[in-house]
Amino acid sequence: MSDRDAGGSSDESADGDSAAGPVAADGDPPARRVSDWDADRLADLAAEHGTPLYAQDLDRVRENCERLRDAFPDADVRYAVKAHTGRAVLEAVREAGLDAECASAGEVDRALAAGFGGERLHYTAVNPPARDLDYVVGVAEAEPALTVTVGAVDTLDRLAERGYDGRVCVRVNPGVGAGHHAKVRTGGAAKFGIPYDRAAEAARDAAERFEVVGVHAHAGSGIDPDQLDSHREMVSRMGALARKLAEPDGDAAGDGDAPAPLDLEYVDVGGGFGVPYEEDEPPLDLGAVAAATREAVAPLPAGADLAIEPGRYVVADAGVLLTRVNTVKPTPDERVVGVDAGMTDLLRPAMYDAYHPIRNLGGGRGGDGSDAPSPHEREATPVTVAGPICETGDTLCRDRALADPARGDLLAVGIAGAYGYEMASQYNSRPRPAEVALDDGTATVARRRESLTDVTAAERTEDRSGATAAPETEGER
Ligand code: LLP
Repeated sequence: MSDRDAGGSSDESADGDSAAGPVAADGDPPARRVSDWDADRLADLAAEHGTPLYAQDLDRVRENCERLRDAFPDADVRYAVKAHTGRAVLEAVREAGLDAECASAGEVDRALAAGFGGERLHYTAVNPPARDLDYVVGVAEAEPALTVTVGAVDTLDRLAERGYDGRVCVRVNPGVGAGHHAKVRTGGAAKFGIPYDRAAEAARDAAERFEVVGVHAHAGSGIDPDQLDSHREMVSRMGALARKLAEPDGDAAGDGDAPAPLDLEYVDVGGGFGVPYEEDEPPLDLGAVAAATREAVAPLPAGADLAIEPGRYVVADAGVLLTRVNTVKPTPDERVVGVDAGMTDLLRPAMYDAYHPIRNLGGGRGGDGSDAPSPHEREATPVTVAGPICETGDTLCRDRALADPARGDLLAVGIAGAYGYEMASQYNSRPRPAEVALDDGTATVARRRESLTDVTAAERTEDRSGATAAPETEGER
């Protein structure tokens, strides 16, 4: 029996590099489906590195960057780092020419480490903790081309208190939201951005203290083709706002004190480009979205460019999560397939009821201990795929027809490259999974599997002699 056929994970296998052939069919399709991945290659990766295991294909990341740049040739494209912050991904995105949009000091730090210079760094401050502002203001001293995107007048004041007078972009709440779930529709949520009606005034006031270089809005995440109208509406509002700011105010107050027009560099309409999670869902027509965006924002003020901030689109279909079946339990109501990845590895199904395609790659054993037949020869059976976490919501799918899973089978969970590893946690004291980066056929361990020592690393512990070891204090960040 090969490792691939063995039940459970092979956690003991050495972390390291491995070379093999391509992971998917050649070409640059608009979406990579879970069925496009090479099953043998994935099985080899799982055997070598154990499960749960993320695999992130850098070639696909590059293709996605290229497709975005082709569709938006005249726009600044900024990768929303939060979708996947792995160093190898950040480097691939930087080399592909995209900027980095960061949501925290930590993300700025990681983008800097991956080689993004200040002129390619955009920090979007959402209720920023003091230590994040301290850090970013410090970075801006060395990298004055960095831009801080601000969604509240309070945040502007807090920046000024720290002596910051550099580049600022004003984040606006456009009043129009969109996205795959209510929890990710930012556009209408009061938490984000300065209300549209007050944005022009706030931007003009900000220009007295900072260099205001842009306006920004993000409707939400995972916008599918049906929501294009909301996207268009949001973009058109942003175009109107930018034009208004580029005009002299006309001395509305009548006091002879008309503010100067703002010289905007860009109008950033956020990210949110959806990807087809469902097997039969058509991919987003990026060309059509780009055309609609350009049309809705036009005419841009002289000297201002369009900017976009895709996260998911860059990395989602470049990633797959591999998990091993450890328990098959028939019950009167459903057939429960227990696997070694759960909501701590991939939170999206539990948090948003998100659909991820799942493919049974086989390799397991039947009830009598013999090798189970190839998945193609098995009957499609409705199953619940459940993780090892003590929560009812810890399922990857319910009532999904899969080639009847057997113990030891390897399952590939598709479109897992965005907000997968990033939202992983150590809940239930589960170490986070490993991740391999695939680059031109070579697999490199990008993030090693965590150990229990990692889980307790920040905790105050007592050694056997009774001496207490204080946790190492975190730095300023
Ligand atoms: N720009 C801003 C200001 C954002 O807040 C976001 C996402 C993006 C860009 C990128 O959006 P994308 O192109 O990736 O849709 N955890 C959720 C997604 C949360 C997104 C938050 N903000 C999920 O797994 O669906």
